[in-house]
Formats: sequence, structure tokens, C-alpha cells
Amino acid sequence: MNKLIFLKNTASDVMGNNNKVKEALTVGYTRNKLETDINITTKLPGEMMNQAAEVYYSGFKQKFDGLLMIPRTREQALHILKESMDCSMGIYALDDGGNLVGLVGLGCKGRGFVKYRWRLLLQEFGLLGAILRKLIKFFEAPALRKDQLRIEGVVISEGAQGQGIGSALLHAVFERARRQGYKSVCLEVINTNPDARRLYHRLGFKDKGRVYFGLLTRQAGFTFIWRMEKNFSPTPKTMSPQSKGLPLKFQT
Ligand SMILES: CC(C)(COP(=O)(O)OP(=O)(O)OC[C@H]1O[C@@H](n2cnc3c(N)ncnc32)[C@H](O)[C@@H]1OP(=O)(O)O)[C@@H](O)C(=O)NCCC(=O)NCCS
Repeated sequence: MNKLIFLKNTASDVMGNNNKVKEALTVGYTRNKLETDINITTKLPGEMMNQAAEVYYSGFKQKFDGLLMIPRTREQALHILKESMDCSMGIYALDDGGNLVGLVGLGCKGRGFVKYRWRLLLQEFGLLGAILRKLIKFFEAPALRKDQLRIEGVVISEGAQGQGIGSALLHAVFERARRQGYKSVCLEVINTNPDARRLYHRLGFKDKGRVYFGLLTRQAGFTFIWRMEKNFSPTPKTMSPQSKGLPLKFQT
């Protein structure tokens, strides 16, 4: 069966009524094969938090285990992620059986998809452990401008990779960024993930520089990261929240 990115009403806040994007999502990927339709949505049913934590962890296990959290067990890692995720900052890909097959976590000034709260870190790692992890997170996350939307992480479940779902999620991010008046979307990609970097280039991201960590991050599977950014042409004045004097805010 030909692949079809199927947009239900629940996705209207991601896509608005932008038929061009809907067209791109449906037409652009028909060359790929996928056994199921995909629904791109911002609404993650509460009971799917476990699945979201599992999918996210599967994509970032090495970084999470080797650098960010250094959990004792997989269960602890999943517990921390589940407790730290703000699902209103994500966009999700569900198959027609309602299973989560991918997600993208977003951040903007002051908010993020994954935010580690002091209380949780203290509970899990004690005072020194909590301070250390907060420090690492502080250096890992770049300071954002008000007009920048950040992709904290995008991950597709292993069996569903390479079929256009990641690209569809990223298009949904661009559409949301444009509609909400952001001037650019930024992300970081580790030097050992050239496949993902190639995809970002293809979707219009440009390299903005490298940050070297050397031995500090070797356990996490990389030695430097690329910072990348995709800029949008200015939105017409009447459309931009900034032009109306409204604060830029992530709406869900
Ligand atoms: C990277 C990722 C999100 C891309 O989503 P996707 O649905 O697989 O990608 P699409 O089918 O839309 O696009 C295909 C492109 O993605 C990239 N890609 C494909 N499989 C990939 C994989 N396993 N890991 C990394 N990138 C991959 C390639 O550039 C590919 O293009 P190519 O066929 O010309 O080589 C997804 O593969 C993934 O979750 N990988 C593991 C986690 C990860 O690396 N996340 C990104 C962190 S910055």
C-alpha cells in the first residue's frame, strides 16, 4: 500500500488549514511503502505517556545513559523521562492502530519538552547527583532567543524509520513555527549521526557551527555536535504575533 500521511482533525492545530502542507505530506511520500496510515497530532492521550518515554529513550539512550542522567537501570531512566516530559511541547506520529511510532519534542524560551525538576532529581540521585545533572543539562541546552523554536529531539521507532515519518514530523514543526511567528527552528546533531544531519540539510537546515566536547562526551557516543538552523522568510506583518505586540508563546 502506498504511504499516506493522514491528517485527522486533531492535527488542525499543527497544520491549520494549510492545504499546501497537507499536499506535501500526502504527495511527497507516496513513493515510499508503509503498511499503515499515519496520523500527525499534538494530542497525546494520557495513557500513552509510557510509550512516549520508551520511544524517546530508544532514540537517545546512549546520550541519556552516558551523559545526561546516567541512570542505574532502564526502569529508572523511563521513570525520569515520563515524569519530566511536557507532552504539550511535542508532536506525535500514530499509526492507524493508535500506536506511537515517532515524536518530536520542542523547546522555546522558558519551556521544553523534557525539563528535569529538582525534586525528582533529588529523590533519584541525592543532592550532589542532582546538582551535577542540572549542570550538565544547563551546558547541553543552548540559550534560545524569543523568536527561535528548538527541536530538542526527534525520534522514530526502529521498525518505522526511513519511511518519511521523521520528515512529516519536521514539516509539522515548520508549519507550527511559521504560524506562531518564530523566525527559525534550531537543533543540534551529534557528529556520529551523519544520516540525521543529511536529512536536516535536505529539509533546509544550515550548519551554524560546531561545539567540541572531546573526551567529556565520549561515553555518550560523540565528541562534538553540529548546531543547525532553518530560517523562515519574514511573515507578513498582519500575521506575526510580534507585529501585534503579543508575546511569542507556544500554544497547544
Ligand atoms: C533520524 C530520524 C528521526 C529520521 O526519521 P525517518 O522517518 O527515519 O526519516 P525519513 O524517512 O523521513 O527520511 C529518510 C532520511 O532520514 C535519515 N535516516 C534514515 N534512517 C535513519 C536512521 N536510522 N538514523 C538516522 N537517520 C536516518 C537519512 O538521511 C534518510 O535519508 P536517505 O534515505 O537519503 O539516507 C529517525 O531515523 C530516527 O529516529 N533515528 C534514530 C534517532 C535519531 O538519530 N534521532 C535524531 C537525533 S538528532
